[in-house]
Amino acid sequence: MTEGEKIRVMIVDDIVDTRDQLEKLLFFEKDIEVVAKAGNGREAVALAKQHHPDVVLMDINMPDMDGIAATEAILSQDPSVQVIIMSVQGETDYLRRAMLAGAREFLTKPISADDLYKSIRHVHRRAATRPRPVAGGAGPGMVMAGESVPEGQIIAVFSPKGGAGTSSVAANLAVAIRQLTNKKVALVDANSTFGDQSVILNLRSDKTIVELAQRVEELDRDLLNDVLATHTSQIKVLLAPLDPQRGELVTSDHLRAILEGMKQEFDFIVVDTPASFQDRSLAVLDMATRIVTLMTLEMHCIRNIKLFLEVAELLEYPREKVMLVLNKASNRTNIRAEEVEKNIQRKIQLQICDAGQDMTFAINQGVPLIIGKPTHQAARDIGILAREVTLATKATAAGAAPAAAEASASKGGGLFNRLIKR
Ligand SMILES: Nc1ncnc2c1ncn2[C@@H]1O[C@H](COP(=O)(O)OP(=O)(O)OP(=O)(O)O)[C@@H](O)[C@H]1O
Ligand SMILES: [Mg+2]
Repeated sequence: MTEGEKIRVMIVDDIVDTRDQLEKLLFFEKDIEVVAKAGNGREAVALAKQHHPDVVLMDINMPDMDGIAATEAILSQDPSVQVIIMSVQGETDYLRRAMLAGAREFLTKPISADDLYKSIRHVHRRAATRPRPVAGGAGPGMVMAGESVPEGQIIAVFSPKGGAGTSSVAANLAVAIRQLTNKKVALVDANSTFGDQSVILNLRSDKTIVELAQRVEELDRDLLNDVLATHTSQIKVLLAPLDPQRGELVTSDHLRAILEGMKQEFDFIVVDTPASFQDRSLAVLDMATRIVTLMTLEMHCIRNIKLFLEVAELLEYPREKVMLVLNKASNRTNIRAEEVEKNIQRKIQLQICDAGQDMTFAINQGVPLIIGKPTHQAARDIGILAREVTLATKATAAGAAPAAAEASASKGGGLFNRLIKR
């Protein structure tokens, strides 16, 4: 949108009153213009072709053609259209299907004026920063034969204390990076014994990290395409097996080889790293370009963070490789972030607000907060984190190389052995 140009909105709802109310709400917004109104999906598809809206407000339940089928049809005509689905509470299954159809955002009825304006501007702004997708083309997250081979950046999301939010932040961060860059993004669930990404992203697959570990010698683009699951956001996900015993088969050497192979195929590889100093975690941390280190304002977590920062120094990780992020940030705790910074002599680079029940709800729904509630403060914070890591990874990549090289040389042996070898 150039200056002075308005966001062109189409309203689709079978209830006349709802259409009129939404139109009235939008009437006084100077940067928004309602260009068409449709009473069902079929009409919406025809009007979208005629009026080329930037944003479509789409009801789900409509006679003739419902909102999901209409979303699919409109996007296959013009993939740059941003569809916001309007639903009533409890239509979880519909929401999933709408996501699959390509909807960008969801609003729950009754819709407040504020949420409506925010969502329209948000999806439109986000679309403006992305390259225009091609109608009918392969999903841009797919690894296709004949494409250039990028050297991927590994972003380890890690906390030395379990339960700090590593898995939740890793999933949301991977989606956020994809939304921000439109590049090839993968998410690896390195918790090979108790992985959570299949639940967080609502993905099922019988092919997991165990298959890659067993066929690590043949690891190539085809094998990765075969094993990695595709999420609706177009990120590719390497899942952990449902059976923890099988997960035990994955060693730190496997993880190194898998990440090395994935670096050839993806621009960004976000790793949900187990909360431990065991070999498998260290393999990931060594290879990472950036370690997003999550801390919460709880004494036992702060203590472990202090310890981890010391270990990172002993392992000679460049200082800028370790990015300290406060998760579940809130001013309701009796420990203040500034006091912690003073105590551990390290700046907290970013805070992700405490999303309370909303994060749990997102996990239970299988729809990451960044997709289900993109205007939520925690989702915005993760968006900022995505920007930070994508900007910063290039700068720190060179610094990470010696540590990674050394890691390959010192296979196994645990942290203690690694440190006394020095
Ligand atoms: N920013 C946040 N605001 C509120 N709750 C959060 C936030 N981040 C994570 N949580 C919650 O914290 C809990 C633990 O999250 P998660 O499973 O992602 O952590 P983890 O560090 O991966 O745990 P584990 O060590 O078991 O793998 C979940 O209930 C999740 O909803
Ligand atoms: Mg986890």
